[in-house]
Amino acid sequence: MIDRPYTTAIFAMSADGKISDYQRSGRKFGSQQDFRQLEECVAASDAVLMGAGTLRSGGTAMRVLSDDLLQQRHTQGKPPQPRQLIVSRSGNIPRDLKFFHQPIPRWLVTTVQGAELWRTGIAFDHIWVCECRDPQAIGRSESAVTRDVQKTIHLELMLHRLKGDGVHQLAVLGGGALVADLFDLGAIDEIRLTICPLILGGATAPTPVDGLGFLNQMHSDRSAPQLTLLAVQPVNQEIFLRYRVSYSHPRHHERNPASPAGSIADPPPPPGVTAS
Ligand SMILES: NC(=O)c1ccc[n+]([C@@H]2O[C@H](COP(=O)([O-])OP(=O)(O)OC[C@H]3O[C@@H](n4cnc5c(N)ncnc54)[C@H](OP(=O)(O)O)[C@@H]3O)[C@@H](O)[C@H]2O)c1
Repeated sequence: MIDRPYTTAIFAMSADGKISDYQRSGRKFGSQQDFRQLEECVAASDAVLMGAGTLRSGGTAMRVLSDDLLQQRHTQGKPPQPRQLIVSRSGNIPRDLKFFHQPIPRWLVTTVQGAELWRTGIAFDHIWVCECRDPQAIGRSESAVTRDVQKTIHLELMLHRLKGDGVHQLAVLGGGALVADLFDLGAIDEIRLTICPLILGGATAPTPVDGLGFLNQMHSDRSAPQLTLLAVQPVNQEIFLRYRVSYSHPRHHERNPASPAGSIADPPPPPGVTAS
């Protein structure tokens, strides 16, 4: 069993299940309440994880801004901002993003090849090389040219290292590619979704979990992760949902940590229905 942080994925989603429009723009569509919930989750975390696609489209980190949440972190003996980790196989991230000017600890998790791009300069406070052979590339012919592109991030090793480095609560802010890989590993413990009042449509618009997908079939190594509703809270035009994730395939049981006593942020008592 690997020791890893308790991991929560957080998304704002259109009523038809999309997390962005078909142009994959980083434009936000959640309300102020949605922003506040996200900020509370970030404030309760030791680290925030994001795929490079999400950073490239939005350009910024989600950081703690509100005085009460900054005070809360101070009282808990935590630094003002959780560390912000970007996962990128290629390391190909534009240097002119606002992200690089925000007062946050910036970490890059990448391959040897990706790290090469950041050898000079101090844009990232830390660079973790955490690579392995891409399982999807196994069987493909390997030449000197393709060898490097067949590398990907060893997410299990990354999570294990994070835990060893004092990260107990991890907030994953997308996108669908990274979250799909984490679900594949059985490494998402909780998911928070805000259903927002719009339809984005588009066959290729991203969803909270992209990747290959799962099967609606028990006892398969691709069985769909199952959700238990923890809370549902309608606020104005939006619905805030919180689910605990469980995995039916034994390979995931071997990897799942015992659930911690609390979750990433204990929710306020919802005025709506609360699941038992
Ligand atoms: N509404 C919301 O709450 C919300 C939240 C997040 C994102 N979004 C939206 O989602 C879209 C971005 O999604 P996306 O599909 O680009 O997903 P993403 O997971 O953010 O980014 C994909 C990229 O991240 C890196 N990556 C992800 N998983 C990896 C792994 N296992 N190993 C190595 N590298 C990995 C790769 O970077 P490299 O290409 O650099 O190798 C990959 O191309 C944007 O439109 C964004 O606005 C919406």
